[in-house]
Amino acid sequence: MARSAPLLVLALGGNAFMKKGEGLEKQWENVSRAARAIASLVEKGYRVVVTHGNGPQVGLILEWIHRVSPHLAKALTMDIAGAMTQGWLGYMLQQAIGNELVKRNLPRRVATIVTQVLVDRHDPAFTNPTKYVGSYYDCKEAEQIARKTGWVFKQDPRGGCRRVVPSPKPLEVVEIEAVKKLVEENYVVIAVGGGGVPVTATDHELRGAEAVIDKDLASSLLARRLGANALIILTDVDAVYKDYGKPGQKPLRLLTTTEAKKLLQQGQFPPGSMGPKIQAAIEFLEASNNAYAAIGRLEDALDVVEGRKGTRIIKG
Ligand SMILES: Nc1ncnc2c1ncn2[C@@H]1O[C@H](COP(=O)(O)OP(=O)(O)OP(=O)(O)O)[C@@H](O)[C@H]1O
Ligand SMILES: [Mg+2]
Repeated sequence: MARSAPLLVLALGGNAFMKKGEGLEKQWENVSRAARAIASLVEKGYRVVVTHGNGPQVGLILEWIHRVSPHLAKALTMDIAGAMTQGWLGYMLQQAIGNELVKRNLPRRVATIVTQVLVDRHDPAFTNPTKYVGSYYDCKEAEQIARKTGWVFKQDPRGGCRRVVPSPKPLEVVEIEAVKKLVEENYVVIAVGGGGVPVTATDHELRGAEAVIDKDLASSLLARRLGANALIILTDVDAVYKDYGKPGQKPLRLLTTTEAKKLLQQGQFPPGSMGPKIQAAIEFLEASNNAYAAIGRLEDALDVVEGRKGTRIIKG
């Protein structure tokens, strides 16, 4: 494959592993579905870097530690739990994508990079947790857990109460050179899983932080640093909608950054779901030339990349 093949950063939502309302039993089936979509892009000649969310999984690990081995909770911090999810989900994607490549007579060139992402230790997000992780609780039960653990819970718009953790802004991808090298060698690379393991810097040292970075914003940063041709955000809706969920909702097929900003300001794209995707697209496009962003359904990956389905966002 030519080195000049278009480079896509492909961000997978949590539903690539666990659909809403599902447990873990279907995770291989879901990952295989994502792997088929990704392999079909590689087969078409695209270079691909894959990123993924980890909200349900990182929360599950933290709850599991709290329930089964509370004496380990001080040592097994949120950054370590985040790194565990990069291994867990990275491994699954790496194996499943490799299998699909081999089926298409392509080499099994796929690797996961445990990725640290730099954040500012003075980021105001550290004192204002907003990112939902883990299980949905009855709000009374959540209160009891909060008293025992010091965790913060908030009502999730999808129903029930859920733990929230700080979600600081991603500033740099620490392992960016390693990602670039593997891309140059025609590897499908899985990086910044779960938004990356958040780290803060002192003069000479990096240290893990108790936070979960938004995967859409981290994917945008990665796409900028790689000089990618496109940022493709794959989720569980077929397009970005105007007046989503209201009668008369309308899919938006093409958006300029100016229009996207206006709709974002009007509150069309809520924080915690569509908001960060639109923000990620705007940040990527404003720093890039001849690039595009697209948002659509995972199953439609190839059509979303090539503009037949989903919402395309361009600079303008
Ligand atoms: N204007 C909009 N157009 C389309 N979808 C919207 C809009 N506003 C909110 N949404 C919601 O955004 C959701 C997708 O974002 P969400 O953060 O839930 O998924 P994800 O990022 O793919 O996965 P996860 O956050 O679990 O990793 C859709 O399921 C939809 O309900
Ligand atoms: Mg999301």
